[in-house]
Amino acid sequence: MTKQQAVIQHAEQFVKQILANDFSGHDWWHIERVRRSAITIAEQEGADRFICELSALLHDVADEKLCGDEAKGIEQVRSWLFEQQVSEHVTHAVIEIISTMSFKGGARPPMRTLEGQVVQDADRLDAIGAVGISRVFAYSGAKGRPIYDPDVAPRTTMTEQEYRSGNDTAINHFHEKLLKLKTLMNTEYGKRMAEERHRYMEQFLERFHLEWEGKA
Ligand code: ADP
Ligand code: NI
Repeated sequence: MTKQQAVIQHAEQFVKQILANDFSGHDWWHIERVRRSAITIAEQEGADRFICELSALLHDVADEKLCGDEAKGIEQVRSWLFEQQVSEHVTHAVIEIISTMSFKGGARPPMRTLEGQVVQDADRLDAIGAVGISRVFAYSGAKGRPIYDPDVAPRTTMTEQEYRSGNDTAINHFHEKLLKLKTLMNTEYGKRMAEERHRYMEQFLERFHLEWEGKA
């Protein structure tokens, strides 16, 4: 096993142990899917695979929903990378990616590096397509929200607080967020993957409404 493979394996264990008590929808399989998509996109875009895979594995560790405090989470990752004797160059790259990804204060800064763009695309892809559809209904169910209510209009503007809580339905979340993700993709290959997943969601919504009306 190479040193890089060993670090990846350790990262997997580190993340699994942190995510073990998560109920916010950031389970291990989300991480695993983001990692796989990140590798796919990295290979197509000629990005550094090791930095992409490692960042994908660690991308949710510093999420405020998981650790309560972003800055603390990022420091935890930094010391872990140090213990693993990861080079300064890679540490710097990974920390920059996960800090930008978990940045929640207003408009997020755009991803500066290709590797960051790859990992962010991979994370966004997991919210759309067939997997994205499954996650919406799982999330809504966990929050005790309905799948759909024609009397609740999708919200066009909302604060962070309103986004997290409030009167929402699974179907509205497509309009409030998921159908917009396609336009936020960074890389060419990520865009291509998003196009296909986007079409699949549109077809799903079309069918959903036909069946809702009893017309199909
Ligand atoms: P991220 O941390 O990537 O911004 P979120 O925590 O907002 O993601 O969402 C995690 C998953 O839960 C995503 O698949 C998302 O679509 C889904 N989700 C988030 N908010 C809602 C909501 N209000 N209704 C339904 N699903 C949601
Ligand atoms: Ni994520």
